[in-house]
Amino acid sequence: MSDNSELLTPELKRLLDKYDRPGPRYTSYPTAPAWEDIPAADLESALDRYVSADDAGQAPPLSLYVHIPFCEERCLFCGCNVVISPEDKVSEPYLDVLHREIEMIAERLGSRRRVSQLHLGGGTPTYLRPEQLQQLTRWMQEAFVFEEDAEISIEVDPVVTRPEHVHALREVGYNRISMGVQDLDPKVQESIHRVQPEALTDKFYRLCRELGFDSVNMDLIYGLPYQKVGQFARTVERLVEWGPDRVAVFNYAHVPWIKPHQKQLPAEELPTPDMKLAMILETGRIFGEGGYDAIGLDHFAKPDDELAVARRNEILRRNFMGYTTQPSTESIAFGVTAISEIMGIYAQNITRLSKYQRTVLADHLPVHKGLRMSGDDLLRNEVIMDLMCNLVIDKGRIEARFGIDFDRVFEDALIGLREMQEDGLVELSPQEIRMVGHGPILVRNAAMLFDAYLPKGDEGSENLFSRTV
Ligand SMILES: C[S@@+](CC[C@H](N)C(=O)[O-])C[C@H]1O[C@@H](n2cnc3c(N)ncnc32)[C@H](O)[C@@H]1O
Ligand code: SF4
Repeated sequence: MSDNSELLTPELKRLLDKYDRPGPRYTSYPTAPAWEDIPAADLESALDRYVSADDAGQAPPLSLYVHIPFCEERCLFCGCNVVISPEDKVSEPYLDVLHREIEMIAERLGSRRRVSQLHLGGGTPTYLRPEQLQQLTRWMQEAFVFEEDAEISIEVDPVVTRPEHVHALREVGYNRISMGVQDLDPKVQESIHRVQPEALTDKFYRLCRELGFDSVNMDLIYGLPYQKVGQFARTVERLVEWGPDRVAVFNYAHVPWIKPHQKQLPAEELPTPDMKLAMILETGRIFGEGGYDAIGLDHFAKPDDELAVARRNEILRRNFMGYTTQPSTESIAFGVTAISEIMGIYAQNITRLSKYQRTVLADHLPVHKGLRMSGDDLLRNEVIMDLMCNLVIDKGRIEARFGIDFDRVFEDALIGLREMQEDGLVELSPQEIRMVGHGPILVRNAAMLFDAYLPKGDEGSENLFSRTV
């Protein structure tokens, strides 16, 4: 196969030239650049509001996230919040601090609140030893009441995760696991400083299956150095053979001004936007033929997976942990840099490890940045969420929920959408706005039309966001 795909037609190339620009990924709205310094009191009062709502029987169960920032070595593409620590002198003190943070939050919540989701992310949570992971999980289970069918999940790097880790995780109730694969090609792996032989991934995947996780996810990235369309397709075909329940195929976010280590990647070997688009189109084709449903733009799931079912019913949601079927999210996050989203606020923990630890040990909630969402923020958040998750906005639902006249409030956005309609990307009707044709590929562009914080034109965005294609 050549460097391009026959799916990349001249019309699609024209659209790509027209629409490719820097833009947010909308894992939150308002996006992080709009956040400001906020006091810990904002999180405290959000927790108090949650308590009142829960006591009145009007709150959903909580989602919990714990950030373990450590990795032994750095992959050069990495865009996550990571602390590199080749020798483990950090995990014990970090766990002590996490324990204190869990206690502080639990005290504020007054009694043990219900939990429907726990996710350990990183970094690499399996940087911790198996018994440390179990201890951390038990602290959570003591502080909260886990629902019978709670999703308990973890992200792992198969290179550093040992069988003992996986056994220990199953023992304390983990039922979902997500593993980084990125790309199986040795040349790509070498260039990104992440050598992960296929045989190792194979062995790891089989172990997860043997141990009976309800859901196994694999992460890939497209847009890395030396990737070619046909070669990446081989990685995708191998994944279809393995048959994970879900796959995330991330668009490589190249942001060397924020993550300077990315400058060490051979920039001249990065695929062009055309090639990237061809790669994701081929990826979609191969997963489609392999029996997977597309979830949003870059996720795929087996048709009986609950995400695929929610997608078909157009009720999919997203939170900081990824796509979810839970209708509303109230999430509390623990650990350095972690972000809570609860009762109309975003609250991010301090991002410098030493300061985060000092603050918790001084018995203060370690909040530094965030946002109290206004009514307008909540409205736009809902609209953007609908678009990004389900590729459709149900105007009637939004009008009923927020008591607005959709077309009047979003007059400006509709001008941009009409242009996208002329390009065959969007279908506008009195009831709904729907991404059609090649539209799903450019859904970020449509979402940007509803973003009240974006600078007009691309001015300033180059330094904030990765490109939409
Ligand atoms: C925090 S890592 C998770 C697990 C583990 N540390 C690993 O690498 O296998 C989560 C995922 O984020 C994705 N990722 C990391 N940096 C990225 C970037 N710059 N652009 C797009 N995706 C990225 C990778 O696919 C990675 O598997
Ligand atoms: S192992 Fe994962 S989190 Fe750590 S540097 Fe690599 S991609 Fe980033």
